[in-house]
Amino acid sequence: MEPDFWHARWQQRQIGFHQADIHPLLRQFWATLNLPADSEVLVPLCGKSKDMLWLHQQGHAVLGVELSEIALREFVDEHQLSAAPVQHDHYCGYDLADMTLLCGDFFHLSAADCAEVRAVYDRAALVALPPEMRQRYVEHMLTVLPSGCQLLLISMESAELGDRGPPFMVNEAEIREHFRRASTIELLHTHATDLRGVPMDEKVYRVQL
Ligand SMILES: C[S@@+](CC[C@H](N)C(=O)[O-])C[C@H]1O[C@@H](n2cnc3c(N)ncnc32)[C@H](O)[C@@H]1O
Repeated sequence: MEPDFWHARWQQRQIGFHQADIHPLLRQFWATLNLPADSEVLVPLCGKSKDMLWLHQQGHAVLGVELSEIALREFVDEHQLSAAPVQHDHYCGYDLADMTLLCGDFFHLSAADCAEVRAVYDRAALVALPPEMRQRYVEHMLTVLPSGCQLLLISMESAELGDRGPPFMVNEAEIREHFRRASTIELLHTHATDLRGVPMDEKVYRVQL
């Protein structure tokens, strides 16, 4: 999916992926990471997800990265947050108290940007990308994250839905292949649900790099 695809989705309000509430699997499984409250959390391809507010309320500093300026402006406006412009060579965006929202391409993120990151929350980021981009996405993430980081990853899997995303179906074998150099990959939970009436599973993984 090229940037223009996502810019058009936001401009045309085709944002069915956006959730009105905090993701229940985030609430249920975040504590399994056992992170110090003040650790920084990277939220790649963050949209205007309210999950960032929840993470912030848990005491975390949040680093969100999102292509769409519309998404980030709506996030700031809808939650009446007070923000200053980000000063960065590759991104515009918003600087808030203990939250930085970088507007631009995830693939421009550097190790310096992630120096304080201790965990990643991926909901609808990996599964938003087609196969060859998923590979690049994980490789880039592994390149820029400090060692010892953890991920909480919510993926989608279905035998009936083909690879016609987004969202794309990403099975457990692929996740294990992407993170084969991680110390541990645990499947924490499988939640049977559906996508537009077609059965599928949401799977929650904890990855320790
Ligand atoms: C399926 S949405 C999920 C958004 C969010 N994670 C959520 O749970 O609501 C994927 C988001 O990734 C953004 N995106 C896609 N490619 C990107 C890239 N290369 N860099 C940054 N953001 C990107 C899109 O604009 C879109 O908002």
